[in-house]
Amino acid sequence: MPLRFAPMTETDLDAVLAIEKDSFIKPWSRSSFLEDLSIKNSWNHIAFNNYGVDNSCEKKQIIAYLCFRLVINEMHILKIAVARQWRNQGVASRLLDRSLKSAVKNKADSAFLEVRASNTAAITFYTQFGFQVIGRRPNYYSTDYYLNGREDALLMMKKFKEL
Ligand SMILES: CC(C)(COP(=O)(O)OP(=O)(O)OC[C@H]1O[C@@H](n2cnc3c(N)ncnc32)[C@H](O)[C@@H]1OP(=O)(O)O)[C@@H](O)C(=O)NCCC(=O)NCCS
Repeated sequence: MPLRFAPMTETDLDAVLAIEKDSFIKPWSRSSFLEDLSIKNSWNHIAFNNYGVDNSCEKKQIIAYLCFRLVINEMHILKIAVARQWRNQGVASRLLDRSLKSAVKNKADSAFLEVRASNTAAITFYTQFGFQVIGRRPNYYSTDYYLNGREDALLMMKKFKEL
């Protein structure tokens, strides 16, 4: 599949927010994304199909995005989402692979993330990339699924090299 990648900009946010609202129980707002875009060590990337006639980025269909931060030597993955109709085609794998490589190039030696304990698709996805569950934060997320309105987070980590 022809797929291109670029840093996220403010003009991408309408499309990003549409995917965000369809993907997460508690989606980020536009101001959350704007705040993230303004943070120096924050990396926000989109994957898109370019159907512009002149190969420009003017007519792009955003199909996925990934946000992470570099905190000294740690990569913190904040979110990854793929538009529903593009899932299970390797898009997230390509986006995560590129992001992990960027983090390594920028001297990260490990990556961390939190994921809802019920999100088996994401947990399987991260596990396939070598992430391991290293902890559990009880009742970390709010949710409508459970009676008490809370859900645990799993803390996952991947080491890039031996320390
Ligand atoms: C999790 C998510 C990002 C995966 O995106 P994707 O582009 O469909 O993933 P890929 O096609 O690259 O899949 C790679 C691997 O992940 C795993 N995986 C992906 N979707 C899965 C599912 N629904 N169930 C089980 N495993 C799944 C599989 O191991 C898959 O490898 P395979 O194709 O060899 O079986 C996507 O489902 C999504 O956007 N979910 C909503 C947002 C979300 O939960 N984000 C993560 C929390 S921050």
